[in-house]
Amino acid sequence: MSYEDNARIISDDIFELVNECFDRERSSRNNESRFNFFDTYNDYFVLTDDGSYSINSKEINHKIETLHTSTGAISESFEKFIKPMKFDYASDIAILDICAGLGYNSSAAIADFMKNSTANLTIDMVEISKATLACGLLVPSPIPEHDITKKAIENELIAQDYATLSLENTEIPENININVFIEDARQTVQKLKANSYDAIFLDPFSQNMAPELFSVEFFREFRRVIKDNGIIATYTSAAPIRAGFIDAGFYIGLGPIFGRKQGGTLASPSPSMLDYSLPKNDEIRIALSDVGIPFRDPELNSSSEFILDSRTEERHNARHNTKISSAVKTPIFLGDEMDDEKLKRRVERNLAKMNIPSTTSSEALYIVEVEDNYTEKQDNENNSTNRILEMKKRLKKVKNGDYGKI
Ligand SMILES: C[S@@+](CC[C@H](N)C(=O)[O-])C[C@H]1O[C@@H](n2cnc3c(N)ncnc32)[C@H](O)[C@@H]1O
Repeated sequence: MSYEDNARIISDDIFELVNECFDRERSSRNNESRFNFFDTYNDYFVLTDDGSYSINSKEINHKIETLHTSTGAISESFEKFIKPMKFDYASDIAILDICAGLGYNSSAAIADFMKNSTANLTIDMVEISKATLACGLLVPSPIPEHDITKKAIENELIAQDYATLSLENTEIPENININVFIEDARQTVQKLKANSYDAIFLDPFSQNMAPELFSVEFFREFRRVIKDNGIIATYTSAAPIRAGFIDAGFYIGLGPIFGRKQGGTLASPSPSMLDYSLPKNDEIRIALSDVGIPFRDPELNSSSEFILDSRTEERHNARHNTKISSAVKTPIFLGDEMDDEKLKRRVERNLAKMNIPSTTSSEALYIVEVEDNYTEKQDNENNSTNRILEMKKRLKKVKNGDYGKI
C-alpha cells in the first residue's frame, strides 16, 4: 500500500475514476479518455461561487472537506495566498507551494508575477497525490495561467509514468521554472536548500485531518528554508498552529479573511513583514491556555492519529500545571469584572489552580497588562508574538510563586 492510499486526499470515487482515465490513456494511447473526462464526470467536481471547480476529500472521521472554499476556489488563491505577499518584483522570486492540489495557488502566483515582473520565478509544488494533480489537468482552467501549471504537472506525471500523452500545448515561459514534487511534503522539505524561498503557501486540509502538516518540527524546516524576509501564508486561524509557528521561531500576524469568519495566519522570520496583530483574545488563549499547545511530529513521520492523540495528552498534562484550563475560555476573563456568578465561580476555580486568586487580582492584571499595548497595526517591537511570549513568561512566574519577587 502506498502512502497515497492512506493519505488525506480526494474522495475515493473520483480517485478511482481518474486513475482509470490515465490507465486507459496508457493502454489506448488515445487522447479521448482525458478530453472527455470532465464532461462525463462533472458531477464529481464541486462548482464554487466564482465559477472555478473544486473536489471533495475522502471521508475521514465522518467528515468531508472540499479542497477549496465554496466562496471561490481561484479567488481564494489570490486573496489568501498572493495578496498578503510583499514580493520585490525587481528581483527573482522563489515560492514553495505545499499541498499543491489542483495547482490553483501556483497559477495565481504565476498570474501575479507575469503582471508585475520580468525577472525569474521558481515554484516548487509539493503534492502527495498523483491523482489529485491529474485532476488539475482535467478541470477547466479558471485563469489562463493555469495552463502553464498544467504543462508542468503533465511533464512530471509523464516522467513518473502516470500520464502517457503530452496534450498540454501551453509552453512554460523561459523565466519561469516549475518543479513538481509528488511525495509527502514532510519528506520534501528536508531535502530543500536553506534560505531559498520568498514565500511558502501552506494549504493542507484542516488541522484535524492533517495535523502532520502543521507541526512545530515541520515549521522548523520552513524556518530553515525560508529567506529572512519571506512570508508563509495559511488560511487557518487555529491556536495550535499559530503557537507552532512561534515555537519554530517565527513572528505571526493576521492573514486575510475570505470565505471564513476569521482571518488566516501569516508567519515570517521578520516582524516588519507582518502588518496586523491577531485579535486580542486569540493572543491570550495562545499564550495562556492549553489550546496553545502545538502539534508535534518529532521525526516528521508520525501518523495523524498519533499526533492528535499526543497533543490531547499533552494538553491534559499542561492544564492546571503550566497552562490555564481552556474550559469556558477562562483566560480571556483575566482583568475583567464578571457579573455572571456561575461562570465566575468556574473561571476562578480554574485560575486558582494557577495561583491566580481572581480575575481582577494583581496576578491577573500583571499577566494581561501586556495587552494594554495592543494595537491592530503591529511593528517590530509591539506585535502579537512579543506579547504572547511575554504573557507566557509572566504566567510561569505567577504559577511558580516568583511574581511577588519582581
Ligand atoms: C486543501 S487541498 C490543496 C488545494 C491546492 N492548494 C490547490 O491550489 O488546488 C490539500 C491537498 O493536500 C494534499 N496532501 C495531503 N497530505 C499531504 C502530504 N503529506 N504532503 C503533501 N500533500 C498532501 C492533498 O492531496 C490535497 O490535494
